[in-house]
Amino acid sequence: VDTSNGAKIFNANCASCHIGGGNILIEQKTLKKEALSKYLENYDVDSIAAITHQVQNGKNAMPAFKDKLTPQEIMEVAAYVSQQAELGW
Ligand code: HEM
Repeated sequence: VDTSNGAKIFNANCASCHIGGGNILIEQKTLKKEALSKYLENYDVDSIAAITHQVQNGKNAMPAFKDKLTPQEIMEVAAYVSQQAELGW
């Protein structure tokens, strides 16, 4: 899958808090596979859908992106995060 556009969207909107797949605000809630599996609801059922839900709606200190990114952009960034989690960032 070509996730180069997802990478650009990630760098512009997510890397401020999630640089390198980390989390500067809540250090254990990273975007690494083990953390996603542990903390992100339904990640093991459907990783893309679970990431999409979090990006659309936000959670606690993470802002919602549904009014900032298009559905296509959210799909692309979710695919990128899922791929990077599989690759180990
Ligand atoms: C959690 C993705 C932008 C702050 C998460 C999680 C994902 C995610 C998948 C779940 C991680 C886990 O539970 O281990 C993204 C994407 C972003 C983005 C794709 C861009 C579109 C941001 C930004 C901030 C932020 C800009 C900071 C202002 C957080 C925080 C959590 C979190 C604090 C933990 C939420 C909680 O469970 O309390 N993010 N994020 N995120 N993100 Fe983001």
